[in-house]
Amino acid sequence: MKKPGKPREGPRALALRVLLRVAKGKYLEPTLDLALERSELRGPDRGLATQLAYGTLQRLYYLDHSLKPWLRSPERLPEPARWILRLGTFEKLFLRTPDYATVSQWVELAKAAAPGQAKLTNAVLRRVRAEKAPPWIEDSIPRFLYEHWGRFFGGTGFARLFNEPPPLWVTAFPGAEEALKNEGVPFEPGPVPGSLKLMGGPLRALSAYRSGRIQPQNPASLFAAQLLEAPRGARVLDLAGGAGLKAAWLAAQGAQVTSYDKNPRRQEAGKKNLKRLGIAVAFKTADLTRPIAEQAPYVLLDAPCTGTGTLRHHPELRYRIQPGGPEAMAKLQYPLLETAATATLPGGRLVYAVCSLTEAEGMGVVRRFLAEHSEYELEPFSLPFPALKQGPGAYARPEAGLDGFYYARFRRR
Ligand SMILES: C[S@@+](CC[C@H](N)C(=O)[O-])C[C@H]1O[C@@H](n2cnc3c(N)ncnc32)[C@H](O)[C@@H]1O
Repeated sequence: MKKPGKPREGPRALALRVLLRVAKGKYLEPTLDLALERSELRGPDRGLATQLAYGTLQRLYYLDHSLKPWLRSPERLPEPARWILRLGTFEKLFLRTPDYATVSQWVELAKAAAPGQAKLTNAVLRRVRAEKAPPWIEDSIPRFLYEHWGRFFGGTGFARLFNEPPPLWVTAFPGAEEALKNEGVPFEPGPVPGSLKLMGGPLRALSAYRSGRIQPQNPASLFAAQLLEAPRGARVLDLAGGAGLKAAWLAAQGAQVTSYDKNPRRQEAGKKNLKRLGIAVAFKTADLTRPIAEQAPYVLLDAPCTGTGTLRHHPELRYRIQPGGPEAMAKLQYPLLETAATATLPGGRLVYAVCSLTEAEGMGVVRRFLAEHSEYELEPFSLPFPALKQGPGAYARPEAGLDGFYYARFRRR
């Protein structure tokens, strides 16, 4: 029987609770997933909580800009009141919920979460309207990054794509499609082999997930592993492999994979996950700024990066990145690439990938590498989705739910 007392938390209250945690440094995706998993919300209510949390965080600069005319010192407001105003403004301007259906709900939340701010909440949410804004505020991207994109990619038209709802992409392992059909979960094929877009969920409740037939992964991320084109039985080193997601796909195609990372906790989680998928990968823990003893004919380095290609499903990252961040990251990526280079056997293939859209972390790293490593040459490849910029390597355009990525492929002479 349900315990009396605590009222059931609605979708708006859940979104608020999640965003307050993100404001304290948590990541949106796992925080929201966990909150939804533990909540009693179902169907459309889950959808609304998700839309509110993602949409508000994706549009933060623009929401604050629209709220500005109605607030004297927004930074002095208690945190819950500020987030209630942002959420309420998002719901009104972007979900276009009429005032009568939404304002009173935010006011009730303010009474509970931000005492003394209910009147202000009511007055502001009734008046707030869409304001004209400079493009970087309109798209809610830090100005330095927006200007960099304009200069380097020759335009910023793709930036608004990061404010779309993120689709649920999964990588399919044997039996996935049948399991999804049996469960009645609609899906569409993705742009690369093995990738599916699901139209149902929640993911962790699906038996196709629990029985290890699907694994969440963006197709642009899966493509980094596919670019190796490692044949059956080939030895592969997956460097900076984290929890081994790319390793899992390579192993499922018949490669013998060893995945290296410096973070043992991620690797432990990876081992458990790969058990669920029924896939064998060897894990080794090492700091890859120093060389490793092993060599293989196929080496993948999916390097740590600023994540600027993943802003759709990690909207919080855009507010955490600082000017100089991509250059500092490139300084870490370069020694990792040198480790990957010494780990590739002569005649072998090396793939470098980052889920970032910056010059420093992509072409910057690769130009320096080619200048300092005459034993390597670029190997051309064709991108299965539209490119944002090409040569050397290629940046994938973050459209149709894809992450922005950079890939380069080399052959060791
Ligand atoms: C982009 S993530 C890898 C994601 C993984 N390849 C996947 O497909 O899920 C980058 C990884 O680099 C690792 N890393 C960061 N610095 C490292 C270092 N110095 N040596 C080894 N791994 C490092 C992080 O722990 C993180 O798991």
